[in-house]
Amino acid sequence: MNAFISEVAARRVGFFRVVRCALGFVAAGAAAQTVPPATTPAVAREEIAALRTEIARHDALYHRQAAPEISDGDYDALKRKLRTWEARFPDAAREVPAVAEVGDDRSGLFKTYRHGERMLSLEKAYTEAELRAFAARAEKALGKRDVAFVIEPKFDGLAVSVTFEQGRLVRAVTRGNGIEGDEVTAHVRAIAGLPRVLRGPAGGEGAGGLPAVIEMRGEVYVPFAEFQRVNAEREAAGEARFANPRALAAGTLRQLDAAEVGRRGLAVVFYGIGACEPTGARPTTQRGLHEKIRAWGLPGVSDLWPASGADAAWRAVQAVERARAGFAFPTDGAVVKLDEVAAQRELGVGESAPRWAVAYKFAAARAETRLRAITIQVGRTGVLTPVAELEPVVLAGSTVARATLHNREEIARRDLRVGDFVYVEKAGEIIPALAGVNRARRSAEAVPFVFPTACPACGTGVVQRAGEVAVRCPGAACPAQLRRRIEHFASKAGVDIEGLGPAMIDALVERGVVQELADLYRLRPDDVVAPGKNPGKSAERLLAAIAASRRAELARVLYGLGIPQVGAVAARELARECGSLEAVAALGEKTPAAGASAAVRAAAAHFAEPRHRAGVKELIAAGLRPMGAEAGAGGRALAGKTFVLTGTLPTLSRAQATAKIEAAGGRVSASVSARTDYVVVGTDAGGKREQARTLQVPVIDEAELLRLIETK
Ligand code: IVH
Repeated sequence: MNAFISEVAARRVGFFRVVRCALGFVAAGAAAQTVPPATTPAVAREEIAALRTEIARHDALYHRQAAPEISDGDYDALKRKLRTWEARFPDAAREVPAVAEVGDDRSGLFKTYRHGERMLSLEKAYTEAELRAFAARAEKALGKRDVAFVIEPKFDGLAVSVTFEQGRLVRAVTRGNGIEGDEVTAHVRAIAGLPRVLRGPAGGEGAGGLPAVIEMRGEVYVPFAEFQRVNAEREAAGEARFANPRALAAGTLRQLDAAEVGRRGLAVVFYGIGACEPTGARPTTQRGLHEKIRAWGLPGVSDLWPASGADAAWRAVQAVERARAGFAFPTDGAVVKLDEVAAQRELGVGESAPRWAVAYKFAAARAETRLRAITIQVGRTGVLTPVAELEPVVLAGSTVARATLHNREEIARRDLRVGDFVYVEKAGEIIPALAGVNRARRSAEAVPFVFPTACPACGTGVVQRAGEVAVRCPGAACPAQLRRRIEHFASKAGVDIEGLGPAMIDALVERGVVQELADLYRLRPDDVVAPGKNPGKSAERLLAAIAASRRAELARVLYGLGIPQVGAVAARELARECGSLEAVAALGEKTPAAGASAAVRAAAAHFAEPRHRAGVKELIAAGLRPMGAEAGAGGRALAGKTFVLTGTLPTLSRAQATAKIEAAGGRVSASVSARTDYVVVGTDAGGKREQARTLQVPVIDEAELLRLIETK
């Protein structure tokens, strides 16, 4: 099946958009270019069947397992290719079993519930021409020009339908197959910022009255800041990262534990309605609906672009694409909707999507480059991660020279060879991903990669635990693991030692002066002379920073120790529960009580190993005296976090925002740097938003700032 993907990919070398144009929107002309003219019906049947099976497989991976294997662009290309074949060979298309048009997200884990009104999908447009064709169809059907549209961001999450009866939240259901979906009420109730009761008087269609029953349609998503936080914590705990915010949202709604929703920073936004009783309570325009959503106190779409006519609609779509970089939430396109509900009715609904709306999908930035080599990184817990070393290529404004390949199986699955030409893509995600291989350009010299059987850093034979994809180095004295352990311990979220960067850590490990964490506290000035530098101020500063870290907060020390399953949040919990480093290490000496928290159980398992308890003893012997949870600012929501404010915030003045941040233990700084934790943006934000983007600092809005203060 990979042949399809690579063939599609091969056609998209260089000007991605232009080629998308050539493929067309079910256009007969495009079909002629992509389907071999001499094909027999038998071949067409085979091709259509294969494409449908492949699409169904990707649907299942995307919707049910929240683990897509291909990019959205490649998926859309597969669908388009199928459409072209179907248009060309309608008889063959009828003979082959159909695939469900709307991806089915039912997981089999939940009770299912039938929607009051069907949940539809959206037609997609990929080019200006396709968007204009949509607008032209609408104007023709309505028999007038300059039709009123509303353009909204297309949120990249998971569609939900939330039912309110007499203003009370009674049920939440995923889209499922459009007719019925998974009932996820408990999960959705746990989303911060979703009121359980609508604002306004109950009973009736009168002005301001709440409908008796209404299905609110919207999207559950994860804001970028939360996505980064969750992934950083998972990495620290030795768990796999989520590939993108959508996978995190979908994965969390599929978790059986609803309480996890609150910890994973899920959010929801509403942009539509399904069933509504009495029908007279329905707003008459899309803009009116957005006003209602706000008036009822529900989270709504704050950025809307009204447009009259096709030109304005296209300009609005481009404006959304430009504004997108500053959004705190993930988007993968813009949705163009007819504003008037009467006009929407006139256009009606097609097979699985309304004719009155279209989703314009933004192209992922994509580039083709050569895979120079595959190197292996050894992580803190010994996991060997293959990394693609690429011929540097500019992608969406930054140079990309490396991309993770995740694990050994990923290389085999892609049949990736050193010397291959590969595609790198940056979609809504911050981290570039390897999106495919251009098989057409594979040379005879391209060589398969042989995954090492011994750790490249220490030579110990690697192991793979049953049921895990990860390959690990079990070496207790592995210098690569030690380097990563030091990096993690000294990191900002750990004991925060300024000046102890990767080059210095390498030098300390290479010279053998640091063989375990405790050795950091025994360093002398001569040991910390930067490679190729004279001893002096910088050595002094580093030693002072190391000395100061002896009094780091207990929670930071616990996080810094890198206990599996213990991220920043669990570390705070442990600090509160145990009160001292000695008490945490002592957890390993006995079996935890039946009702012990997950954090306590994780620490007990880790410190059951004598060498881990010995490591803590050594740290204490070397003078580490962490401040208890109650002594420092550790219990406060924004302790140790640095914020930069920019633009005009909707409700708070600069001074008020600063006071709130400081009261929660945070700091406000005037300029953005790599040490900034969050940039809070309002309207008319200047260059700081761009700087945040470049430095990969999370950008949040006022609402999110307030949530951080309240919920952490
Ligand atoms: S309207 C009848 N508006 O995109 C129209 N959908 O690919 C139903 N989506 O299933 C959808 N942002 O999950 C609409 N502003 C927006 C949206 C949006 C994201 C999702 C939604 C839908 C999918 C279609």
